[in-house]
Amino acid sequence: MDRIVVTGNGPLSGQIPIAGAKNACLTLMPATLLSDEPLTLTNAPRLSDIRTMTTLLQSLGAEVSALNDGRVLALSSHGLDNHTADYDIVRKMRASILVLGPMLAREGHAVVSLPGGCAIGARPVDLHLKALEAMGAELDLREGYVHARAPSGLKGAIVDFPMVSVGATENALMAATLAKGTTVLKNAAREPEIVDLARCLRAMGAAIEGEGTGEITIEGVDRLHGATHPVVIDRIELGTYMLAPAIAGGSVELLGGQMSLIGAFVEKLEEAGVSVSETQAGLRVERKNGRVKAVDVATAPFPGFPTDLQAQMMALLCFADGVSVLEERIFENRFMHAPELMRMGARIDVHGGTAKVTGVETLKGAPVMATDLRASVSLILAGLAAKGETVVNRVYHLDRGYERVEEKLSAVGAKIERVQGDD
Ligand code: UD1
Repeated sequence: MDRIVVTGNGPLSGQIPIAGAKNACLTLMPATLLSDEPLTLTNAPRLSDIRTMTTLLQSLGAEVSALNDGRVLALSSHGLDNHTADYDIVRKMRASILVLGPMLAREGHAVVSLPGGCAIGARPVDLHLKALEAMGAELDLREGYVHARAPSGLKGAIVDFPMVSVGATENALMAATLAKGTTVLKNAAREPEIVDLARCLRAMGAAIEGEGTGEITIEGVDRLHGATHPVVIDRIELGTYMLAPAIAGGSVELLGGQMSLIGAFVEKLEEAGVSVSETQAGLRVERKNGRVKAVDVATAPFPGFPTDLQAQMMALLCFADGVSVLEERIFENRFMHAPELMRMGARIDVHGGTAKVTGVETLKGAPVMATDLRASVSLILAGLAAKGETVVNRVYHLDRGYERVEEKLSAVGAKIERVQGDD
């Protein structure tokens, strides 16, 4: 199993290109199931989660080819010969549940394994199922699988989500494009990935209004056609690499970075004393002198501070002057990086969904490991400013969501390499 070895190496400088968004691509790919014409996605990220979704779609009979070194995905679902998303694939990646809505909407039936729990909490899919039931789906849960049927097609409905869910909004949005009549999604998620999905579906012929607000209205159409769509940039990869110069010092330009994707996060960086400016090609982050200031952070659905940047922000606050309080309000049990950061000398007290971080002047490198994607990268970020060598094990988590992390960080002067070895 590969490891990443990072050695604190002083300030960073240069440019990092930001890839297409993993989470957007993972919901755009299943949109192919809605049409028998080809869907082409450009600016796709090259990640193992994308390969897992490719395998899942292929198992259903879709054709998926990665072109241009994986940057372009050509998808086609003109003939689906299997309607069961198998446990062996679904258990690897929760986003697999996103095939349910589109497959049911177009084919009238679908069987999808329940994803089960994961490292960052229970993460049920009840909201996905309730939305589809409201549109007339008949659901039956048997032997770990959802058996869904809509023999005479889905019908438009008012779906009022009791809490904001990105995945449930995406599943319902895709399903509603082919439902008969009007669907209104209330308390819908407003994440940029939802906006990107709506744009792609519109390019395929869907009638959608209100994406990016809490209420999305969809007028069902008889069929969707082919389209070519560029995947929006990855705001989480962007935020992660913005933290590299914030932690190690220096000045780095994030190519493709957009302030509108990441406003709440930028506010917190600036509050901590890190400077962020817009450039022709993206965003520049600079930290020149002294330690950052402590800041309090609470995660929230978009446009709030993203839960997917909480672990990385904690890595910064470990070095801050003062005490920061981080509140995790989206997922229970999402502080697994805290004990690993503490092995590097960080001072963190976790109580339920709150972590109190007392900044220290420096951390010391250590062997660490993480049980999820964002936690792994937070350890790499901490390692950029730690004394000595930090060895991050279980790199496969990282490969799910960050393409070529060691190349991107080496290019701005970090001392980081991937080594092969036993886990
Ligand atoms: C997506 C992102 C993930 C991000 C999360 C929140 C993808 C592939 N993943 O995950 O990286 O951390 O949004 O921004 O896009 N919930 C329920 N019932 C449901 C669905 C969700 O109770 O049916 C709860 C979850 O347990 C969680 C909250 O709702 O507490 C938000 O989850 P949700 O927005 O659905 O996250 P995902 O779509 O799984």
